[in-house]
Amino acid sequence: MIVSSASDYRKAAQRRLPRFLFDYIDGGANAEDTLKANVADLRAVNLRQRVLKNAADLSLATEWFGQSSKLPVILAPVGLSGMFARRGEVQVANAAEKKGVPYVLSTLSICPLEEVASHCSSLWFQLYVLKDRRFMQSMLERAQHAGVKNLVFTVDLPVHGSRYRDAPSGLSGPYAAQRRMLQVISKPAWAFDVGIRGRPHDLGNISQYLGKATGLQDYVGWLGQNIDPSISWSDLEWIRDFWKGPLILKGILDPEDARDAVRFGANGIVVSNHGGRQLDGALSTVKALPPIADAVGNDLEVFVDSGVRSGLDVIRMLALGAKGVLLGRTAAYALAAAGQAGVENMLEIFAKEMRVAMILTGVTSIAQIDRRILA
Ligand code: GLV
Repeated sequence: MIVSSASDYRKAAQRRLPRFLFDYIDGGANAEDTLKANVADLRAVNLRQRVLKNAADLSLATEWFGQSSKLPVILAPVGLSGMFARRGEVQVANAAEKKGVPYVLSTLSICPLEEVASHCSSLWFQLYVLKDRRFMQSMLERAQHAGVKNLVFTVDLPVHGSRYRDAPSGLSGPYAAQRRMLQVISKPAWAFDVGIRGRPHDLGNISQYLGKATGLQDYVGWLGQNIDPSISWSDLEWIRDFWKGPLILKGILDPEDARDAVRFGANGIVVSNHGGRQLDGALSTVKALPPIADAVGNDLEVFVDSGVRSGLDVIRMLALGAKGVLLGRTAAYALAAAGQAGVENMLEIFAKEMRVAMILTGVTSIAQIDRRILA
């Protein structure tokens, strides 16, 4: 397979995965307008070409919370990654370690935290605000015990978005298990590698807590029962007190919420619309980012995700005020298509694209990237 750009992995992932998994990664909420706008609005941002600026000594390295990263990107939390490739979260952790970037493990991973932790020295952990506060507390304790320093709290999922692909694809809905089985039969390479050799297919973190096996049938169900529309800032206070390390709130899309995050004492935010999977019609993140970055200044670290498909897109987001960029779908497609090697190659492609863009916009360090490199 010839991979020129990271987007080639999307097609390869579609060929390899049973439909319910490909659609789980690829899909968004409702008509998927925000999902599409994330990509289109970002690509419409023009860069300012400069010449003869001597970029011989160029570095892509950066740091957040005093921890260094070789690239200004972070591998984002994506639920069910262990279904995309055999023990998928371990493969992503290995790729992150090899390339010197952090990986944020999802609560809804297949591999439990303890299985992943030893593979990556810069493992962050993602948690939802859930009804079962004892689960949250036990997860936070496990994360501390596993050496996790940075906690990413997802705040834009107090309710599950209306994902119209879930039922037709067989992720949920009538006869879902039977329909998934038919899909699996038509994808023998995946069936052997992940379906058989990749077992168990538990939601690893939750099974450990419940002391019994869970499975895909629990994914939508457990999440639906446990996410909590009643949450507010006050529900987060005990976590702020409990968690001593950096706390990052993911899913901020409005400058007022960003200022509330500063008042609350968050150390970072991720400007995110959950990859267009939650509120369709919400602003694309590239449009939401600049006023948020202006509103919070240096009061906390601003990260962003959604719509980033290339190293050029990373540079655009940094220029508009982000200090780091999370890669979700892009890494998930690469993982599904080619496992750890795919994620590593995707990061290499991104690094090359970033380097080219930096030389041709006349900057040599991540810190120099700001709105001046935009046309
Ligand atoms: C979970 O966070 C999802 O987007 O499916």
